[in-house]
Amino acid sequence: MQTEEVSGRNDQMEKQDLVIKSSLQRIKNKILVMSGKGGVGKSCISVNIAVGLADLGYRVGLMDVDMHGPSIPQMLGIPSIRDINIQQSPELEKKAICYSDNKIIPAQYSGNLSVVSIEGMLESNETAVIWRGPMKIHAIRQFISDVQWNDLDFLIIDSPPGTGDEPLTVAQTIPDAQAIIVTTPQNVSLRDVRKSINFCKQVKMKMLGLIENMSGFTCPDCGKKIDLFKTGGGEKTAHNMNVPFLGSIPIIPDIVTACDNGIPAINESKKLLQSFEKILTAITKNV
Ligand SMILES: Nc1ncnc2c1ncn2[C@@H]1O[C@H](COP(=O)(O)OP(=O)(O)O)[C@@H](O)[C@H]1O
Ligand SMILES: [Mg+2]
Ligand SMILES: [Zn+2]
Repeated sequence: MQTEEVSGRNDQMEKQDLVIKSSLQRIKNKILVMSGKGGVGKSCISVNIAVGLADLGYRVGLMDVDMHGPSIPQMLGIPSIRDINIQQSPELEKKAICYSDNKIIPAQYSGNLSVVSIEGMLESNETAVIWRGPMKIHAIRQFISDVQWNDLDFLIIDSPPGTGDEPLTVAQTIPDAQAIIVTTPQNVSLRDVRKSINFCKQVKMKMLGLIENMSGFTCPDCGKKIDLFKTGGGEKTAHNMNVPFLGSIPIIPDIVTACDNGIPAINESKKLLQSFEKILTAITKNV
């Protein structure tokens, strides 16, 4: 009886593997945004990269796999995700807002940008999630197998900080995913970024490069540049560890209001757009 159950499960996972494979074939570039520490601006950068690429005419998918602090829908002002079906996680099924047949239909932020987040599957956006490893792995696999992604030029995946179940599942499920690692210039953050780099090396994930966020601040009154958290440490670390440096983004107060209000700052702040131009060029260079 027990072995039957196990083999039934394996069959199911094998079937899912095939669906995952065929979904992934329709997505040209998969990018995992990761960081050693929380609060360094990973979600904010994921959103702005996704919107920036969509504005350039690319077909983009944005996937929020931060089960503990999903923030993408809020940052994009997306109220809820439609049509969800979570067969393998009955605990989650109860919390789903609504689900119908067999596919998760991503929220369409714009003509070129579709978004999926675990947030839409929770009853309230204040619900704290306590997930075990295997549940996270299932949910992430379903975000690929059960979501109707269609043909995409880019899939941007925002992950929680660290090198736990989520980035590992992405590495295992999407063998050609490439990493963007986000850091701030402080030493504590740089120490953790080395862990992310070593993780990528260990799981053999190609690194697109490193971004230094919150890199200096220009006083809006007098124009004087203040290095609140120092600057340049990210570039130095990238260089020392032989990882490409994609660019730096200064502290821009507008970003905070934009993120809180569900407006992608890249469409509002000229300064942010300027910092992102170099990063977007590096990302699209080999497309
Ligand atoms: N360059 C920046 N300048 C100012 N505020 C920023 C910048 N990048 C991110 N933030 C703010 O920092 C906070 C944390 O960012 P978030 O993207 O949620 O980090 P993470 O996903 O790494 O935990 C948010 O309030 C965001 O608006
Ligand atoms: Mg985040
Ligand atoms: Zn000043």
